[in-house]
Amino acid sequence: MNPVGIAPRRPASRVVRAAPGGPVRVTLQRASDAAEWRDAARRLLAQDTDPARVEWQDAAAAQASLFTTGDPATDAAPVVADAGADPWPWPAPFGALARRVLCHREPGRHALLYRVAWRLRREPRLLDLAADPDVARLHALDREVRRAAHKMKAFVRFRKRSDADVYVAWFDPGHPLLHALARFFVGRFASLRWIIVTPDASASWDGERLAFGPGAPRPAAPAADPCEDLWRTYYASIFNPARLKLRAMRREMPRRYWRDLPEAVLIPQLAADATRRTAAMLEADATLGVRAAAARCGTLDALAAAVQACRACPVGCRGTRAVAGEGPSGARLMLVGEQPGDAEEHAGRPFVGPAGAVLQQALDAAGVRRDDAYLTNAVKHFGFQQRQGRRLHRSPDRRTIEHCRWWLLRERELVEPVAVVALGRTALAALLGPDVAREAAGSRAPVTTHETSGGRVIATRHPAHVLRAGDAAARAESYAAIVAALRTAAGR
Ligand code: URA
Repeated sequence: MNPVGIAPRRPASRVVRAAPGGPVRVTLQRASDAAEWRDAARRLLAQDTDPARVEWQDAAAAQASLFTTGDPATDAAPVVADAGADPWPWPAPFGALARRVLCHREPGRHALLYRVAWRLRREPRLLDLAADPDVARLHALDREVRRAAHKMKAFVRFRKRSDADVYVAWFDPGHPLLHALARFFVGRFASLRWIIVTPDASASWDGERLAFGPGAPRPAAPAADPCEDLWRTYYASIFNPARLKLRAMRREMPRRYWRDLPEAVLIPQLAADATRRTAAMLEADATLGVRAAAARCGTLDALAAAVQACRACPVGCRGTRAVAGEGPSGARLMLVGEQPGDAEEHAGRPFVGPAGAVLQQALDAAGVRRDDAYLTNAVKHFGFQQRQGRRLHRSPDRRTIEHCRWWLLRERELVEPVAVVALGRTALAALLGPDVAREAAGSRAPVTTHETSGGRVIATRHPAHVLRAGDAAARAESYAAIVAALRTAAGR
């Protein structure tokens, strides 16, 4: 690590004239220093020095050429122009533009800026001429500097030095930007002691004083520090997969910066997970939406209307008719099926098709009047697949059940039944969760009873099982189980 020295005094340029009307060489001590260039340019302008005569050099380059070429113009007796003789005020936009463009690495920037400054006196609207080659070039350089400055502000990462309470960052902005941006870092990290090293210069802040020193090449192995784990955890937690746009991200955070960004190691995995996490977030949002909408329903009628408008799952998004529950709001018994079928969707009522006929028979056998019970389903829309012009039943998936169950749970709260009969596995999963449903199915018991804080739930086969079961014995067993469950639930 290079030591960081004391801030030097403002550098002074040297203006050397070989002969009247001949070339004028300006040697800048710090080629990107705006004040130094401005002073030199003002002196030249005060003497109306034609830009074509001016050669700009930075001190380092001049030093090199002294040894290599022994340039006689540089060795000629110096004629330093009158310092400060400048009545001409800069147009403010040009001054700001010049400050930024001077931070570009482009060697011709001083000459370009001086040429534009010189022309501005004769063409005051020059900067508005976007097609002028000088102006266009200035704006192009300006854009590159702004972009590099933005990147530096975003991607400088400090690592704590193990031997001192100092944070060190190495960063290559691509242009000599550090002097221009150091104050920004002071503002952002005012309470830390830090050093930023770039290839051109370094800056240090001790909590009170900003100082500049020489630059240094990239350290061979940038040391990690314990803060980085913390930073990575934070980054992963604020990473919003729904907002991930990979192309934009690569544009904004080019790979060349990744090496110095502790969080960069996370990016490939986070990006790979983004699709899945976005889907999960959207789902969670949809579920929350249903939950909130259901909670707002104060009556079963209000709930039936809200269910009709629900678009939380792909089935609901088809806009087909939803089927809410039916029955008295104070019913002692609540029957929950899986989802409406084709007939139910047409009628807008639950259990009116073939499975409904089986259920009616079982209700009769159990001595329960349908009108006394509240009948509903775990899922409110008919989920189907179209085949050869027919809509064939498709079982609801886990997500659909998860969205829709909030309507069911709210129905149960509003009806307040003494007992609930879950007809089939989907109904039990919606009422008590998938684990309970899995366990009950695994037990193979035709009827299971679950005492919960919300009341008793009796689970049994779905009436459609009676229609679909392969052999008569299985059909009879399912039917008997449904009748037994209804009897138990009704307290008979
Ligand atoms: N199957 C069900 O689960 N519910 C109905 O409403 C109809 C058939």
